[in-house]
Amino acid sequence: MGNLVDLFGRDIDYLRISVIDKCNLKCFYCVPEIGTCSPEEGQVISAEDIIKMTEAASTLGISKIRLTGGEPLIRKDIVDLVSRISAVEGIRDLSLTTNGILLKELASKLAEAGLNRVNISLDSLEPDNFKKITRGGILEKTLQGIYKALEEGLTPVKINVVAMKGINDSEISKFAELTLENDLHVRFIEYMPVNSHHEKQWGDCFMPISDIKDLCSQVGVIQEEESFQGNGPASYYRIEGARGLVGFISPVSRHFCAKCNRLRITSDGKIKPCLFSADEIDLLEAKGDVEKMKEMFMEALKLRPDPEKIDKNPNGRFNCNKRGMLQIGG
Ligand code: 5AD
Repeated sequence: MGNLVDLFGRDIDYLRISVIDKCNLKCFYCVPEIGTCSPEEGQVISAEDIIKMTEAASTLGISKIRLTGGEPLIRKDIVDLVSRISAVEGIRDLSLTTNGILLKELASKLAEAGLNRVNISLDSLEPDNFKKITRGGILEKTLQGIYKALEEGLTPVKINVVAMKGINDSEISKFAELTLENDLHVRFIEYMPVNSHHEKQWGDCFMPISDIKDLCSQVGVIQEEESFQGNGPASYYRIEGARGLVGFISPVSRHFCAKCNRLRITSDGKIKPCLFSADEIDLLEAKGDVEKMKEMFMEALKLRPDPEKIDKNPNGRFNCNKRGMLQIGG
């Protein structure tokens, strides 16, 4: 097993793979109202290619894989894909980010196939507001998905909440209260201006983590949880007496490039060395040759930008991306 280190000394052990660019919800900040931002309909990486990419990555030093989308659970072969990835030597942690709609029916099969845990995107706890944000989604389905994930031991179950002023800020304390009785990690994420056509809306809705934290403090005294500060972007706190944790992710106000431990693969098979860069390397050009893929990952490593330079250009960094989250997967 190798050890992937980039030019700035960052250890890379984590790969996010967007397995599909379609979603069964249409959250207003992520999915355009009509159609998707897919360049070519139906161009999604095959299971065969994903396995080869995983093999290449794992021999180089990747041990953690997260499947994202779009919505990964709408891929017809998702259970089989999980089973095959979890069997790749060197993969110690296999997780998935989902909106939870299909989780009730799939959680037990996924757990059996070797999935370790799930992150569930959930931006509202009120059925009407959920429907509005997701343009038609049914809250109860996601909630049932969450309960099922807990039941199946896909833990820690992490809930991702994109906090937005005037959209769900009145629910932030309710989300924090969820951690009192439930062993959940509720993580608040700052809204990122990823799609340039959303810039005005972003300006209206953006909330810094400091404001979100203040709202959580109204639920109870919050204290940092030293033992949960991993390599990821979240900083974790516990409300006094709570079973679960609240987490704060601040990609806008205080980002975490210096700690970045990840590479991404888009739903059409391109390595993205950095979320805030337009650079991409097309793994499909390797035509299934694992050795070539390994070379491409090494090439991608060299393209990872200097974290200091990104820090110095905070306003520009969200604009250099020609893709939406549907293809990158967060
Ligand atoms: N800002 C912050 N988070 C976002 N996500 C999607 N788009 C944005 C954005 N513009 C989140 C989703 C999901 C995760 C994969 O990324 O809500 O939880």
